[in-house]
Amino acid sequence: MAAFKELVFSGVQPTGNLHLGNYLGAIRRFVEMQGREAQCLYCVVDMHAITLWQDPEALRGQIREVTAAFLAAGIDPKRSIVFNQSQVPQHAELAWIFNCVARLGWLNRMTQFKDKAGKDRENASIGLYDYPVLMAADILAYRATHVPVGEDQKQHLELTRDIAQKFNTDFAQSIAAREYDDGFFPITEPIIGGPAARVMSLRDGTKKMSKSDPSDNSRINLTDDADTIAQKIRRAKTDPEPLPSEIAGLKERPEADNLVGLYAALSDVSREDVLRDFGGAQFSTFKPALADLAVSKLAPIAGEMRRLSSDTAYIEAVLADGSERAEAIARPNLDIVKDIVGFVRRPRG
Ligand code: TYM
Repeated sequence: MAAFKELVFSGVQPTGNLHLGNYLGAIRRFVEMQGREAQCLYCVVDMHAITLWQDPEALRGQIREVTAAFLAAGIDPKRSIVFNQSQVPQHAELAWIFNCVARLGWLNRMTQFKDKAGKDRENASIGLYDYPVLMAADILAYRATHVPVGEDQKQHLELTRDIAQKFNTDFAQSIAAREYDDGFFPITEPIIGGPAARVMSLRDGTKKMSKSDPSDNSRINLTDDADTIAQKIRRAKTDPEPLPSEIAGLKERPEADNLVGLYAALSDVSREDVLRDFGGAQFSTFKPALADLAVSKLAPIAGEMRRLSSDTAYIEAVLADGSERAEAIARPNLDIVKDIVGFVRRPRG
């Protein structure tokens, strides 16, 4: 295990309605990363989910559903480590230490907190405010080198890098840190990109496709059936012009740009390639082609998700095994962090 030079970590919140943005921007990339010489860890971040109130029974089901989505999309739970955050106590432990490293000013700049807390900021949970610190702990408990995410997580990953850097500097003189020439924590590389790094709403090409959008027509859920997918694409907002033949022609046409990006991501080609085939076509031609493509890619995943979701015992066994393997990496890392910080800890037998 320790033989891998790269360690990949990413997480998805079990907050319901996994959508095409989560799949193309994140989960599908997780599957691709399995092809690298890397240990990959994919985490269902249930502790992040409760930063906004969740119905307990629904939450349990959603944790299983995200796990099923990982597996249905092609994550191999033997090769990768698939687990839920709350089963590995080192995430919370490291988050506390990082709370004492991160600065208020850094968190005050986080745009996601401002969006999620809305106008009633005084009433937001402290967990919601601290969300990015827990995220840094998720990543750095494993000393992850690479983190595949959608574009919206960029700022959180910059904060993770800042926390790693400050910890390394603050404790550079600690005896336990001296053997790590570049500091104990790596400066993690975000992996963001491709045509689906930011999938937009089907109802408004200037807004991100999101789990929390009140309109179900704004997103394609991973559990939508073929008819629903086709109908949502047919109803997707567009403009009256045909598709351009050059990328420059997509400027100022956010809805067209989004649909072309979706086609490109689903068929694994570039936007340029899509415009080569569809330049000059009307949406009445392009939308049915996109709908067929989306159905052909998503229907098998939805079917497999349904099958796996009903096998609670199997899903829970995957999470238990993954948590054990995750903790086997995180625990010795936390022991070193505690030594670096200057805690007295119980020696391990
Ligand atoms: P979550 O559950 O909100 O999103 C999961 C992943 O989906 C990506 N994503 C999108 N990508 C493209 N277009 C969209 N419209 C879109 N919407 C969501 C997100 O960027 C994300 O990669 N904070 C994380 C969860 C997390 C995490 C971590 C990630 C907790 N700890 C450590 C990486 C490493 C999040 O946004 O989850």
